[in-house]
Amino acid sequence: MKAVTWQGRRKITVETVPDPIIEQPTDAIIRVTSSGICGSDLHLYEVLGPYMSPGDILGHEPIGIVEEVGSEITNLQKGDRVVIPFQISCGSCFMCTQGLTTQCETTQVKEQGSGAALFGYSKLYGQVPGGQAEYLRVPHADFTHVKVPIGPSDSRYLYLSDVLPTAWQAVAYAATPEGGSLAVLGLGPIGDMACRIAIHRGFRVIGVDRVPERLARAAARGVETIDLDAVGDGLTDTIRDMTNGRGTDSVIDAVGMEAHGSPVASFAQRSAGLLPNALAEKVIDTASIDRLAALLSAIDIVRRGGTISLIGVYGGMLDPIPMRVLFDKQIQLRMGQANVKHWVDDILPLLTDSDPLGVDSFATHRLPLDAAPEAYKMFQKKSDGAVKIVLDPAARSR
Ligand SMILES: NC(=O)c1ccc[n+]([C@@H]2O[C@H](COP(=O)([O-])OP(=O)(O)OC[C@H]3O[C@@H](n4cnc5c(N)ncnc54)[C@H](O)[C@@H]3O)[C@@H](O)[C@H]2O)c1
Ligand SMILES: [Zn+2]
Ligand SMILES: [Zn+2]
Repeated sequence: MKAVTWQGRRKITVETVPDPIIEQPTDAIIRVTSSGICGSDLHLYEVLGPYMSPGDILGHEPIGIVEEVGSEITNLQKGDRVVIPFQISCGSCFMCTQGLTTQCETTQVKEQGSGAALFGYSKLYGQVPGGQAEYLRVPHADFTHVKVPIGPSDSRYLYLSDVLPTAWQAVAYAATPEGGSLAVLGLGPIGDMACRIAIHRGFRVIGVDRVPERLARAAARGVETIDLDAVGDGLTDTIRDMTNGRGTDSVIDAVGMEAHGSPVASFAQRSAGLLPNALAEKVIDTASIDRLAALLSAIDIVRRGGTISLIGVYGGMLDPIPMRVLFDKQIQLRMGQANVKHWVDDILPLLTDSDPLGVDSFATHRLPLDAAPEAYKMFQKKSDGAVKIVLDPAARSR
C-alpha cells in the first residue's frame, strides 16, 4: 500500500510499504477513505522530530471502511463505515471507564511515561503506524472506533477522529459561565472549530490569530477577531478594553508549543533539532523547549478567577511559568489530549444535514495521498489559504 512517511525534519515522502495485517484477535483493518493532516503532525514535522524514526507512517485522523476483523471482534464487520479516534483505548480499564481514554491503562506507553498510545505519533506514544495511508491496522478495534452511517460524505464524520472532540473538550474545559466571554488563541482547525462550538453554545467569542484567511473564516461565523500582528504587545489591553477592563472569563490556547513570538525558546527548539537524534531527545527530555507566547498571553488575558483551557500541545520539561501571576489571579488551568470517545455522543446530534458547525465545508483542501509532501509544506507555511487539509488515498495525483 501507499503511506505517508516521516523521513527527517520537514521531510515527508509517500512510500510503498507492506499492507497491514491482523496481528491480534482484537485488531481490525480499515481501508482509509479520507485522512486529515493535523497541527499535531506539524510538531512531528518540526520540533518533535527527534522522537521519530525514518519510515514512520504518519496520521491520526482517518475515516474508512472495515476490510477485515480479528477473531474476537463481535461489534464490527467487513463493510462497516468507521471513524478511528486518534488514541488507542480499551474501553474497560479504570481510566477508560471514567472517560479518560487518552490515559487508557491498557495502552499507556509506560517505557516513555506517556498516556495512551496514539496513531502515527512518535516513540513517545508507542510508534504505532498511522492513518495517512491506504490501509490502517486498528488495535483494540472493538472499542477504538466510532461507527457512522453510510451515505453522507466523509467530511460529515471525519472530524470525529480529532478536530471535533478536541475542540469540544477545549470548550468544556474552558468552563465559560452561561452568557460569558471566551478568548480563543489560534484559529487553525482546532481554534476555529472551538469558536464554532462556543458560538453555538451562546458565548461571546474573541478569536486571535495573524493569518488573514483564518481571521476572516472565524469572523464570518460571528467571532470578534483580533489580528495579532496589528495589536502587537497590546493584545491584552485590546481584550480588556472589550471586556470592562477585566479580560475574558475563559481563554482557550489552541496554539501550543510552536507559538509565534518566543525568540529564545525558538532558538532552543531549533538547536535541539540540529543535534543527532539521541542527543536531541535528551535535550528535549531535560530542558525547556516550548515557545510560550500563547500560554503567557492566556495567563495575561484571562480575568481574575477565570479558567484557561490548554488544548494546543506542549512538550517542554522545564518551562518557566509565572506562578505568582497564576496564583494571585486565582486561575484554573485544565489541559490534555482530547478523550475522543467521551465526547462523541454530545457531538453526533450536530452532524446533521443542516450542519450547524459547518463541517461539510471545513476543509480548504482535499488532495491525493501522493501530494502529502506539498500538503505538509503548505499547511506549515499557511500558504494558499490552507486551514484544513484532507488526504484522499483513492485519488490519483497528476
Ligand atoms: N489536545 C489535543 O487533543 C489536540 C488535538 C489536536 C491538535 N492539538 C493541538 O492544537 C494546536 C492547534 O492545532 P491546529 O490543527 O489548529 O494547528 P495550526 O498549527 O494550524 O494552528 C495554530 C494557529 O495558531 C496561530 N498562532 C501562532 N502563534 C500564535 C500566538 N502567539 N497567538 C495566537 N495565535 C497564534 C497560528 O497562526 C495558527 O493559525 C496544536 O498545538 C496541536 O498539536 C491538540
Ligand atoms: Zn490531531
Ligand atoms: Zn483503557
